[in-house]
Amino acid sequence: IDAIPVITIDGPTASGKGTVAQRVATALHFHYLDSGALYRLTALSALSHKVSLDDEAALVEVASRLKPTFQADDVFLNGDNVSLAIRAEEVGNAASKIAALPAVRQALVELQLRFREAPGLLADGRDMGTVIFPNACLKVFLTASAEARAERRYKQLIGKGFSANMHDLLKDLNERDARDANRAVAPLKPAEGAYLLDTSNLTVDQAVEQVLGWYAAVSQSA
Ligand code: CDP
Ligand code: CDP
Repeated sequence: IDAIPVITIDGPTASGKGTVAQRVATALHFHYLDSGALYRLTALSALSHKVSLDDEAALVEVASRLKPTFQADDVFLNGDNVSLAIRAEEVGNAASKIAALPAVRQALVELQLRFREAPGLLADGRDMGTVIFPNACLKVFLTASAEARAERRYKQLIGKGFSANMHDLLKDLNERDARDANRAVAPLKPAEGAYLLDTSNLTVDQAVEQVLGWYAAVSQSA
């Protein structure tokens, strides 16, 4: 039905969305939208301009002025490479807080829709299949146990040179999951018709194969 196909991958923190989505996008030569990065960029921008995380109007202003440029694996804000800065846990936690504000979410809708370009888009986040791209031809919901996810995030952070400890990570992750799942607007939940994939005991390759298999099946029946 839709000229430009969209595949959505939603799920909780560190379920593997970004890693799997990028690999699938590369395999299909699709564009890639890391929607979480937009919330992180808004948070980073707010933190660096000392905007209070309770000041909804000011945060909307920050979100609507956001003009990030994505280049390969890097993201730039006003000429600065902020790829690493947006990955800090502090920024992730702030992102999750401001993401609960409806007007902030609204301010980022247009920017997200613009990523849909030929030959196709792979979009990952929390509400890609439920709110932003409800007509996606394939919707995937990734999960993994909290322990598996905390361990993955730990390895990622250490690998990037941040300090981290499992106890705090598990606590943050549970708090963030609860906030994402319980907010009134665009809560984290599987979209109608989404394929569920528990990656706790899967390698990245296996998860990628599964998504590509589903896509092959839906594009054949279209
Ligand atoms: O890497 P992680 O999965 O922890 O987070 P992320 O995908 O980078 O997103 C950061 C935060 O933005 C999440 O905790 C969500 O609260 C929020 N987010 C959202 O509300 N909706 C999206 N589509 C993407 C992210
Ligand atoms: O985007 P999201 O926060 O959901 O997760 P991510 O940033 O892709 O991080 C997931 C981490 O777990 C990456 O370092 C992956 O290499 C690793 N991993 C995975 O994504 N999927 C598996 N099945 C196993 C490990």
